[in-house]
Amino acid sequence: MARKIILDCDPGHDDAIAMLLAHGNPDVELVAVTTVVGNQTLEKVTRNALSVARIANITGVPFAAGCPRPLVRDIEVAHTIHGESGLDGPVLPEPVLELDGRHAVDLIIDTVMSHEPGEITIVPTAGLTNIALAVRKEPRIAERVREVVLMGGGYHTGNWSAVAEFNIKIDPEAAHIVFNERWPVTMVGLDLTHQALATPEVVRRIAAVGTRPAAFVNELLDFFGAMYLKEQGFEHPPVHDPCAVAYVIDPDVMTVRKAPVDIELTGTLTLGMTVADFRAPAPADCRTQVAVDLDHGRFWDLVVDALERIGEVPA
Ligand code: RIB
Ligand code: CA
Repeated sequence: MARKIILDCDPGHDDAIAMLLAHGNPDVELVAVTTVVGNQTLEKVTRNALSVARIANITGVPFAAGCPRPLVRDIEVAHTIHGESGLDGPVLPEPVLELDGRHAVDLIIDTVMSHEPGEITIVPTAGLTNIALAVRKEPRIAERVREVVLMGGGYHTGNWSAVAEFNIKIDPEAAHIVFNERWPVTMVGLDLTHQALATPEVVRRIAAVGTRPAAFVNELLDFFGAMYLKEQGFEHPPVHDPCAVAYVIDPDVMTVRKAPVDIELTGTLTLGMTVADFRAPAPADCRTQVAVDLDHGRFWDLVVDALERIGEVPA
């Protein structure tokens, strides 16, 4: 039985690849896609999400736009990595899917409440504003959601500051809500995603799929790679967001470690830091775990396989 997931995203080059992985892999079913301000403005990331849906030929899945800014703080976009459009590099097709009439928060709530408890997994690959508001508006989703598997944070590193990762740092108050709710949380942070490097061999394997969606992914990686080299000195780009989807597909694709995690909300130098407490033993009621080691080969096998399953999509 395929795992049903809600993808809450801010496309974003790696979000786009996460969406393709979720769409192409038979062990997960995309039941909703929601967008939130992050890599770029809400308008831009939402348009990007709809363009990716066309490239991947995603139909019959509701897409809804969510929060245009964080709960408390001002908007902070990642144009240095994702460009002015949020998905610079490839030429994007005009969207054909219409947005669902609901706000993302309501689509998330309605989706969770209309499924059996334990059926829905939420996969955030962006700031956590939508997720925080959803569980505040309808607290019952915290007991019905199977788990939250999020790309964000880092227990030993940051990228938007020395110690904080972008998805957490842009809305730390939202992250604090999500990490302190009753649902299980798996944090797929930079410690893990910095292992998900798109090496030349990965690019070669994707090119060999020989389809428009595969070519699109390599165009994304080309731009993303150039920006990651320039901005953060990576020889090959770390492709963060599909790691969270890959964990839902196959938990054995990475190792995880149980540890309480909370969010720094007041530090001058540490705002948005995901503080993981590795002092043993983890409390019996600990509901959070962090991702540690990635099976690089297995991860990219999943991405290539998903692209092969999507196959060719007319322009
Ligand atoms: O820090 C990496 C994360 O921030 C990824 O989700 C990327 O898409 C950006 O949103
Ligand atoms: Ca993202």
